[in-house]
Amino acid sequence: MSKIKRIGVLTSGGDAPGMNAAVRAVVRTALAYGIECIGIRRGWQGLINSDFVQLNRESVAHSLSRGGTILYTARSEDFLTEKGRAKAVSVCKLLGLEGIVAIGGDGTFRGALELSRLGIPVVGIPATIDNDIGCTNYTIGFDTACNTAIECIDRLRDTMQSHERCSVVEVMGRNAGFLALYVGIAVGATAVLVPEREMDFQRDVVERIRDARLAGNTHFMIVVAEGVGSAVDIGKRIEESIGISPRVTVLGHIQRGGSPTARDRETATRMGYYAVTALAEGRVNSIIATQEGGIVEIPIEEALQMEKHLQMDRYRIMEVMQFGGAVRG
Ligand code: F6P
Repeated sequence: MSKIKRIGVLTSGGDAPGMNAAVRAVVRTALAYGIECIGIRRGWQGLINSDFVQLNRESVAHSLSRGGTILYTARSEDFLTEKGRAKAVSVCKLLGLEGIVAIGGDGTFRGALELSRLGIPVVGIPATIDNDIGCTNYTIGFDTACNTAIECIDRLRDTMQSHERCSVVEVMGRNAGFLALYVGIAVGATAVLVPEREMDFQRDVVERIRDARLAGNTHFMIVVAEGVGSAVDIGKRIEESIGISPRVTVLGHIQRGGSPTARDRETATRMGYYAVTALAEGRVNSIIATQEGGIVEIPIEEALQMEKHLQMDRYRIMEVMQFGGAVRG
């Protein structure tokens, strides 16, 4: 049993497959500690609006395999204001919430830091398909999004191969190239463009298509991270430079949906468990992160300053896989 009697849980920012698994784990771990759990709907905005629902064992039944978030989500402008945050604090006090588990990405954790500074204990769980949170080497939803993108690109490849075409596929990732690079490696892309590497169009696109053609390929797959710019523009530049007419596909929000993979369900469940355990044991204002496979708790302020860099050895591996030794420097 814990000294805490009631906590809130919310999902905020872009949804990610596995968020429901995290909510379920929070609720069921709270029950194990004898803590009551209130679901705050629609993220930080819901806290301001006192938009809540009582959660029990049954409320989260059958949610483990569902994508999206049963608590809904939002990006709140009001929470960015002092007035909005003051209202959120008064709602926490009114509802008797002694802690909040906030599930989301960077924006969610900035909100968590502000709330913790106003005296409300918060523990964060990283969930975003972008995998762009510095303090953790994994964020819930990334694996599912990668697998969804791979499935779509495998389908595209069938038709590109039949017509001997070039495909330009834009994947999400905000300002990071994790999704694009992992997916690019997994589909054997001809080229991958990521924001972490300044693009040299001739070297990174034209010469890679040319090398692929010389190696015997008759169809080409170019994966573009949205942080680089529009796949439509890349398609136009390909046409202007080498006269082939690519087909452009923007995968968009398809990547955010779907049933979470084993990795996302399992990671979300562990993170949910450790988030409530931390609150119950009085360790608060932290982010639950994975580092070298294990779960750690990192103070929110420190976590927000941590950086994670795209592993450029993976970029090199992607390049090598296409043409063996014939990699341009
Ligand atoms: O952060 C997740 C993400 O899907 C990004 O990859 C993308 O840039 C953004 O959210 C899209 O946001 P929205 O759902 O508001 O269009």
